[in-house]
Amino acid sequence: SQVRVAILGATGAVGTELLELLESRNFPIAELKLLASSRSAGRTLPFRGEQLPVAAVGEDSFKNIDLVLASAGGTTSKAWAATAVESGAVVIDNSSAFRMNPQVPLVIPEVNPEAAATHQGIIANPNCTTILMAMAVWPLHQVQPVKRIIAATYQSASGAGFQAMEELKLQAQAILNGDTPPTEIFPYPLAFNLFPHNSALNEEGYCEEEMKMVNETRKIFNAPEMKISATCVRVPVLRAHSEAINLEFSEPFPVAKAREILSNAPGVRLVEDWQANYFPMPIDATGKDEVLVGRIRQDLSHPSGLELWLCGDQIRKGAALNAVQIAELVVGC
Ligand code: A2P
Repeated sequence: SQVRVAILGATGAVGTELLELLESRNFPIAELKLLASSRSAGRTLPFRGEQLPVAAVGEDSFKNIDLVLASAGGTTSKAWAATAVESGAVVIDNSSAFRMNPQVPLVIPEVNPEAAATHQGIIANPNCTTILMAMAVWPLHQVQPVKRIIAATYQSASGAGFQAMEELKLQAQAILNGDTPPTEIFPYPLAFNLFPHNSALNEEGYCEEEMKMVNETRKIFNAPEMKISATCVRVPVLRAHSEAINLEFSEPFPVAKAREILSNAPGVRLVEDWQANYFPMPIDATGKDEVLVGRIRQDLSHPSGLELWLCGDQIRKGAALNAVQIAELVVGC
């Protein structure tokens, strides 16, 4: 059956990718409504060869809408999700607003598709770094439970939105011209630099992004006791995140077995050329659906430890693609 869809945040980095994915995956759309802030009212965006108008979100925006794909930030989601659900729509929300709400399923279709069916109007799309890590860890965890995860991330500018990507380019240009780089979106120069993720810090010294990896992974894996620690860092890459992941199991996990499992895991591609020293890189992950995984090796410091490296398109599997896959689960296509 055909679905009446609204995209909230259609003009953003994730929003425009949602449009592209709905078109390229042939999502069964009866009607598509594009919503953003009043700043964007009157703009148009291309879809299936037409230019669709963007409207400012308002009280009547969700009338006769079946499905809302929301990617306009937590404040906007909190402001509009209830209105959308009350008017009968299912909301797939890309923000962090509802992720840890026990009534809201947090879904990665390759990991916990069954959770989507329990929704009460809202389904949350996990944080991008969480999704990418879970894609590689879950298939191994199915074979031998993971006891502990230590992750370090190398996160691209796209996680902070379109304007952040533009600012990274402007910063690079300014520095090459010998000028002072602009820092309106980012707190510090990102070009030719990097900095620990600038989300809010808790009392233990972890930032929000790091705690998302801890809490969201536990919820998605239904493993509330799993030990997880992360260090999140922003790097001067445009749109794919990378992660170094150390896994501890109860018993040794043979590297050959891990390789075999990950080469057959859905949504994962093993990228390893040990002779050429070629492994996943963000430029290769950009625009791809799969999470690229490689450099799988025995942890020298622990008999039951594995090391691996991954890259994934933050806007695609880290956000828009995962949301569209959830939408496909919900409408049964
Ligand atoms: P707009 O372009 O009108 O500002 P990104 O993550 O790339 O920064 O994109 C954020 C998206 O969220 C954009 O589509 C943006 O629309 C939208 N947005 C931001 N604030 C609001 C708001 N208060 N109401 C509706 N949409 C919003």
